[in-house]
Amino acid sequence: MSTFELLKHAMPTPEPLREKILADSGFGKHFTDHMAHVRYTEELGWHGAQVKPYGPLVLDPAAAVLHYAQEIFEGLKAYRHADGSVWTFRPELNARRFNRSAARLALPELPEELFLESLKSLVSADSAWVPTPKDDNDEVSLYLRPFAFASEKFLGVRPSVEVDYYVIASPAQAYFSGTVGPVSIWVSQKVNRAAPGGTGFAKCGGNYAASLAAQKEAAEHGCAQVLFTDAAENRYLEELGGMNLFLVYEDGRLVTPALGDSILDGVTRRSLIELAEQLGYKPEERLVSLQEWKDGVASGEITEAFACGTAAVVTPIGTLKAPDFELQLGDEAGEVTMQLRSRLLDLQYGRVEDERGWLYRLA
Ligand code: COI
Repeated sequence: MSTFELLKHAMPTPEPLREKILADSGFGKHFTDHMAHVRYTEELGWHGAQVKPYGPLVLDPAAAVLHYAQEIFEGLKAYRHADGSVWTFRPELNARRFNRSAARLALPELPEELFLESLKSLVSADSAWVPTPKDDNDEVSLYLRPFAFASEKFLGVRPSVEVDYYVIASPAQAYFSGTVGPVSIWVSQKVNRAAPGGTGFAKCGGNYAASLAAQKEAAEHGCAQVLFTDAAENRYLEELGGMNLFLVYEDGRLVTPALGDSILDGVTRRSLIELAEQLGYKPEERLVSLQEWKDGVASGEITEAFACGTAAVVTPIGTLKAPDFELQLGDEAGEVTMQLRSRLLDLQYGRVEDERGWLYRLA
């Protein structure tokens, strides 16, 4: 028995319209018929778990989140396998990270079981919205977005004693439109995303808000994403606007910036480190400078670079741009990048055996 009471939508999206949306969903533009909700108050704790019709929220204009950004979120995907079943990937890691984010943002932690159940209950109600891939290159899924925010009506600066947790779901194609061609990255030199002791490791809306001015600058320079370096020296690589970063070396090393407290502990990042090891590469998590990247490309030692994340999966990087330099990394996706990408997608879509038990059945 689910903890989540199901309040069915009286007028769900008609099938022809749903199919039309699924055929060309883009990313993050369309939403399913339901959403999961759990409320928290100091007196009752987490209570009132429901899956109910998707729709606008009514918030008091004084709700704390609107003023002080006390908000956190997660991102996962539901994948339809060839036999019709629906699975997600390592959701317990998202549940734990959600609680690390909650602790940093002074929000109440959500029991891991409730997090998992919220995904399962929503996806069961909206399972018709999980797209079926046409072939092995069709990267379609149902993107799941759990989030929690301070809903107490109060303008004093202190942790809210009322919080709302929701999960919404959005049918998704690739995050970057077009084929898996390399993207251009802009190096942010004026704007930092995170600093030691800050919220960089947490998945909170504020981090993404702080990245937008740099993201805008990136777009003005024809780049799809922005790269942030460390706030103290602007010397060491950290992460992109919404994804982690890997450099591929000719000798089989696969280097990604060590986490510290200013980089998001990406589930895709972690998984690629494990998969890479199995494929015979040598993953390294350490400090890596922008200069090392430039020198490595010049000497031929660094052969590929890619971004990774739940939304981005594994996306090759073709160009790195800054006001004072431009690094050309290649017009085509690198071999190692594409090998890792296929390995991960094959696992997520159930095309290879799930030896590590990373998949979790939702419907
Ligand atoms: C994800 O990869 O799930 C993210 O949260 C990145 C972005 C869409 C914010």
